[in-house]
Parts: sequence; structure tokens; C-alpha cells
Amino acid sequence: MNPKIAALRKEFPALDEDFGGRRLVYLDSACTVLKLRCAADAQRRHMLLLGGCGGKRSMHSLASAMEEDFLAARARVAGFMGASSPEEVIFCSGVTDAANLLANSFPFTPRRNEVVLSPLEHNAVFLPFERLAAAGRIKLRVAPLDGLRVDLPGLARLIGPRTALVCLNHASNIFGGVSDVAAAARLAHDAGAYLFCDDAQYAPTHGGGGAALGADAAAFSGHKLGAPFFTGGLYVRRALLERLRPWRVGGGTVERVTAAGGRYTASYLGGYQGFEAGVQNYSGAAGLSAAIARLQRAGFAAIREHVSGLVAGALDGLEGVKGVRVLGRREDLLQGSLITLAPLKKKFSVPDFTLYLNSAAKGRMIAVRTGRHCADLACLNSGYSETVRLSFFAYNTPADAACFTAALRKYLDLVG
Ligand SMILES: Cc1ncc(COP(=O)(O)O)c(C=O)c1O
Repeated sequence: MNPKIAALRKEFPALDEDFGGRRLVYLDSACTVLKLRCAADAQRRHMLLLGGCGGKRSMHSLASAMEEDFLAARARVAGFMGASSPEEVIFCSGVTDAANLLANSFPFTPRRNEVVLSPLEHNAVFLPFERLAAAGRIKLRVAPLDGLRVDLPGLARLIGPRTALVCLNHASNIFGGVSDVAAAARLAHDAGAYLFCDDAQYAPTHGGGGAALGADAAAFSGHKLGAPFFTGGLYVRRALLERLRPWRVGGGTVERVTAAGGRYTASYLGGYQGFEAGVQNYSGAAGLSAAIARLQRAGFAAIREHVSGLVAGALDGLEGVKGVRVLGRREDLLQGSLITLAPLKKKFSVPDFTLYLNSAAKGRMIAVRTGRHCADLACLNSGYSETVRLSFFAYNTPADAACFTAALRKYLDLVG
């Protein structure tokens, strides 16, 4: 193991925890990553030793210290996301929050009111736009799948002069692999539309995301890279940011409130400030910044290489296993961080299997994710519904996948 990865591995205390005599074999990082000690320490320091309010509300030294850290976190996130300036970053609680913000702030017009979604969109992205469509405010079009990947020619056929926005999942949380963001950005831009890129599954093991590949907006969730829950970033290219209409308003977003003729009128701040209403998650942002810095120190090239190696090893181990189908092609899966299996036997009960994994291996508790993975569009378009997903992060070892595969074989023998 690369020494930088070995050193990073030691910084996830949950791996050393004893869960009733069992150690974790954690293969559910696509859901959430175990948390980094440095992220928790940074958040704790902020909460206990500082604890004041940022956002330039108060002018005392404690508030200034908080604001300074918040600015530093914004700069760190901007660098991580590939933004050209920290001013292009809106702090949010994750991709769900970011997609809701974008959907509800987007400058749709009667002539440009169509949103084209990839079939791999997570419900976090699909549902905010589906709601607008159900309310008759926009039209939604969903591109087809091709071999469990986004069918790019199919996506292209749906993009036209009425398309306002294209949404592309960068790395699928159900079928793995990576989407061609640069190609989708060209298709969107050629039609005068914008591209939003969901980096939830891409950012943690590749570093960065869609911004560097031409996306006009992109988002990631901090908890998926070892940072505290309810942290994340939404990148919006300046030209688009200037066109968004603030969705949530409140303290911190207002430039001026005036009174005239018995009426009050508010004018709002431009840029990211118009979108960060109320007090922010200052301590979470400190934790997020610490987590990103730690992963950057290990190096995303090393993380990527390690995770691809884990996927390759797991695929080798699963090769001879009868009774399940590995979804997707090997070359695609190697670019991602997860493998999803479809059971082929009627007697294979996915919920039972999940419970079985808690105690299938002596002294181990195996954690995977089963079900639809909040990827209803992908399930409906592919016909797969109940599947088993093992997902990897920097702390996993080949032994984790081997432990899972041995348990899977045992379960398949049990159900006959
Ligand atoms: C691809 C993808 N997008 C969006 C989300 C939503 O992320 P969050 O719940 O952190 O907002 C997830 C979470 O699993 C995801 O996998």
C-alpha cells in the first residue's frame, strides 16, 4: 500500500472501534464516508473554543476570527472544486441542498424552460426539477441509458433551443463509472444551455469535479469525503451566478431595506452572499476544509489509484461467483469507486442478506448498501430494482472485498 494511503487510513477512528466484538468492514462509502479525525477536531475547536458568529454580523475579534476561517474554508473549497475564485462558491449542506437551490433560483423563461436530465441522476437532483415540472413551471426530459451508461447521442437528441439546463451525474452511485462531462458541457453550450454536474460520487476519490471540465455549476457533499454531515459546496460560474435569483432569503443576504409610501422594499446582495441566508455552518466549514486539506496531502492521484485497485481486485474475486450479476463493464467500473450486484436467484433476499452480513464473518461486521440507492431513474430505465452495492474509499483494503465475497458465497450456498 502506498505509504501516504497507509498514513491516511490511520485517521479514521471508526475503523478501530469495537462493535460488540466486531470490527468494521465498511463497504458503504458511496452512502457516506467514515469521518476523519482532523475534520472532527477542527469542528470541535470551532464549536468549543471559538463558538462566535461569522458572516460580518458582529465586529468583535471573535466574530472576525470566525469570519477569517470561513473565508479560508471558502478558498479551500474553491481550489478543490476548480473554481476560478472563492466568490463562485456557495456553502450548502450537500448536493441535495445545492440542487434544490439551483432548481429554485434558475432563471427559466417561457422560451427556455426545459431541463434535460441524465438517467443516472440521483433523486437529490431529479426530484427538485420533477417538482417544478409537476407544477407546470418547466418541462423535464430524461435521456436514455446505453449499457448502464448515459447515452450521449440520446442526450444530444433531447437538447434543443428550449433547453435551459442539462444535469449530468459525474460518477454514478448505482452503476459506477464516470460520465463524460466535457462532452455534455459542449452539447449544452452549443444549444445555449447550462450544465450542472453532480460530483457527489466523483469528488471524494478523484478530487475536484465538473467545474474544470466545463460545467457551469457543480456540487459535492462533505460527508462523502470524511467531513462533517451537512457540509458541501455549490460552484456556480460567475456568468450564471449573476443570473440566479436568490431562493432562500434572510439575514446576510440583504443589501438594504427601505420604506416608502407605507411599503417596505428589500434589495439583495449579489454573488454568493445572496444565497447564504441566515447563520451558516461555520464549524462544519472548518471541518470540511480540514478534511479536504488532509485528502489533498495524501494526494488524489494516490487515492484514485488505490480505489481503482480495490475495484479491480473485487471484480477478480467476484468473477467465479454464480448467482449474482456484476452490473456494468469492467473498464467502466475501474474508473469509479463501486460495484453493484444483481441477485439472480429467487431465494436471494436482499434485506436478509444485509442482516446476514452483520455476523457472516467471524469478528467482522460487513456494511454494504442494498435497494434502489435513491437512483429511481436508473432503476426504472434499467429494470434493476433490488441490488447490492459495495463501495470503496481510501481506507479500504483488498481484504475487505475478499471478506465480502466469502460471505456472499456462503449466503448463496445457504439459499441453494
Ligand atoms: C450521486 C449522488 N448525488 C447526490 C446525493 C445526495 O447527497 P446528499 O444526501 O449529501 O445531499 C448522493 C447521495 O448518496 C449521491 O450519491
